Amino acid sequence: MSVEVPHDATVLQAARKLGIDLPAMCSLADHDPNTSCMCCLVRVDGSDSFVPSCATNVREGMQVESETREVHALRKTGIELLLADHAGDCHAPCQNTCPAKMDIPNMLRLVADGDYLAALATVKRDIALPAILGRVCPEVCEQACRRGQHDSPAAICKIKRFVADRDLESSDPYRPELSTDSGKRVAIVGAGPTGLTAAYHLRQCGHRCTLIDSAASAGGRLQSDFASELPADVLQAEVSAVLSLDVDCQWNQGLASAASLDVLLRDYDAVLLATGRGTPGPDVLLDVERTKSGLRVDAHTRMTSREGLFAAGNAVRPYKLVVQSVAEGKLAAECIDGWLRGALPPDRRHAYETRLARLTNQELCDFCDGAVPTPRVDGRLLSDGASEDAARSEAERCLECDCRALASCLLHHYASMYDCDAQHYRGEGRRFEGRLVGNRVTLEQGKCILCGICVQLAAETSDAAGLAVVHRGVDTRLAPPPGSTIDEALGSAASKCAEACPTGAIITAAGR
Ligand code: SF4
Ligand code: SF4
Ligand code: SF4
Ligand code: FES
Repeated sequence: MSVEVPHDATVLQAARKLGIDLPAMCSLADHDPNTSCMCCLVRVDGSDSFVPSCATNVREGMQVESETREVHALRKTGIELLLADHAGDCHAPCQNTCPAKMDIPNMLRLVADGDYLAALATVKRDIALPAILGRVCPEVCEQACRRGQHDSPAAICKIKRFVADRDLESSDPYRPELSTDSGKRVAIVGAGPTGLTAAYHLRQCGHRCTLIDSAASAGGRLQSDFASELPADVLQAEVSAVLSLDVDCQWNQGLASAASLDVLLRDYDAVLLATGRGTPGPDVLLDVERTKSGLRVDAHTRMTSREGLFAAGNAVRPYKLVVQSVAEGKLAAECIDGWLRGALPPDRRHAYETRLARLTNQELCDFCDGAVPTPRVDGRLLSDGASEDAARSEAERCLECDCRALASCLLHHYASMYDCDAQHYRGEGRRFEGRLVGNRVTLEQGKCILCGICVQLAAETSDAAGLAVVHRGVDTRLAPPPGSTIDEALGSAASKCAEACPTGAIITAAGR
């Protein structure tokens, strides 16, 4: 590939013009290069050595090697060295533990702010049936809640139930946006939690859905196994919310024979078997391979051995928790949507993830610094007819363990792209070092990669005291000058620094 750029352009700028995403984390446009991350390396004109593309100017006819195995290996080493000295949680422990991976800290922030509709929309991105789960889920996420290490976990499940109930009781319950009609049709056999969830997400992708069940109504095991915890009106309301997305229904109809499956596969573009424990035997699912526990599916695509036939939930293997069935339904919907669009299945390789080790008592004290001291609200106050006051004061107990910069963090982006192993050079590793909380921004030193960008920005701002680089070697840290706060150190450059910081080390109160 060749490219024309101004004579004073850098190799990095030329690469970007070609659409090449180089792991450049310490360079700021219109500023001198810092060359501190050393991750943007390229080889020039077949030389034995490698140079940082951000600090190398182009020359007429220059040959630059960027996307070769050798260059990539070097960049990967550079990123892994940064990770070796990085301490943070990309996702909060509660979210990592939730089988549906719901964005719990964001839901709690929105409830604490009184924005219940946005909180519900956050929940419903991952959980189609939150009022039901708010009653039948054994609160698995709360077992991992960091606040539990301090006093008692945030009442995540009850707060989810609060926003879901509030919505169901409103005159205009939440309705997700549906994409324009894709022209594709999906038959979902089984209208339990997996099938209902799959229909909820597939409708949002614009695919027509038909739910087929041998029972006279939707619900599956929610009707039979949870009669004592789950009032019929709650089940009914949340099922109706799914069906109201123009989902076609065929009740009192099972998969009775191999011929009926053939008809479905002929009449629909895809078929999902979400038949739960009552999955038909080999006499009906003739060509479908099985494992000891259920139907065999490709781990990546969720397709069975028959083209266009997918399976999920208890049809594949026993899932005791309803939240696992809900997670399965969403995953199956993503796979079917990808297949119908001719796209690759969703990439579920483990995306890069930094996690803090279990906090020591001192780290926990630092982590909880500034947290509201109130004890967990009595569960009864958060059950039927919970008050806003109770829900908000419980939500305020959240320690906000997630990294607010995740969506824009370059370190996370390139660590995923280069398939990095955070442990490769880790050794003792770095621990949580507290936060310098200012009125404008917060600095979390454990997430700083010493790129130098904020130092540059503060240095050119007249009302900023500037940042100092203190200690040496592995202990090198960035800090405000002695006696100054982080606000004073960054002055009016504070929000610019947060925006330019390549990681979540500097964030504004709004999260970036
Ligand atoms: S700064 Fe980036 S890599 Fe570090 S915890 Fe935040 S998102 Fe993850
Ligand atoms: S304190 Fe909040 S963000 Fe942290 S684990 Fe608990 S609920 Fe999640
Ligand atoms: S805090 Fe400053 S030096 Fe550290 S990563 Fe962010 S911008 Fe770079
Ligand atoms: S060394 Fe080039 S961007 Fe960091």
